[in-house]
Amino acid sequence: MHRPISRIIIDRDRIARRVEELGAEIARDLGPNIPAPGSPTPARGQVVLVPILTGSIVFVADLIRRLPLMLSLRVVTVSSYPGQTTQSKGAKIAGELPPDLGGNHVLLVDDILDSGQTLSLIRDTILAQNPASLRICVLLRKPESIRKVHVDAQYVGFDIPEAFVVGYGLDYDGFYRNLPDIAELGTPTSEVPPESAA
Ligand code: IMP
Ligand code: MG
Repeated sequence: MHRPISRIIIDRDRIARRVEELGAEIARDLGPNIPAPGSPTPARGQVVLVPILTGSIVFVADLIRRLPLMLSLRVVTVSSYPGQTTQSKGAKIAGELPPDLGGNHVLLVDDILDSGQTLSLIRDTILAQNPASLRICVLLRKPESIRKVHVDAQYVGFDIPEAFVVGYGLDYDGFYRNLPDIAELGTPTSEVPPESAA
């Protein structure tokens, strides 16, 4: 069953402007934590971004290029919307969470805050490692009323209504991640025109 997109809700230019603003905000907050240029790199007290894959892949690629900071990336893969579903099946970590986050300034990055299960799972696992600080950045946030678990995101690109959205890294059944804009998913059609599948 194919589900076409119905309409663009945030276009690429708006996304780019907001990512630039977020980068400036994050750099202002995290910059003072970074050792001065020329000083030896400490084992702890570094800025570490933890992008949650696969959805945050496009967002984090743009965001890090707007962050003029010494930082490193440690990815974690979580799956919660397997196959043709628009309902969360609960978050599961695939593989291992980076084990050495303790003492560092961690910025958790995800594409969207929906039920909150994914971010709360990763947040709590990272907190158990005693980071120096932990902040959360999401590109999109759905309304608080649909949250199953409370999650505070310090950096939010856009608040959006309750709808299933795709593009700019977000997928439906693995497709549409390469769409440069963010769009709402339309109603199903029975045929899949192969050349139109993103
Ligand atoms: P949560 O655990 O329900 O907060 O869901 C978070 C994860 O589900 C995100 O990282 C996305 O990968 C996925 N997700 C939630 N809502 C959407 C959506 O509207 N479109 C695509 N993926 C979504
Ligand atoms: Mg995701």
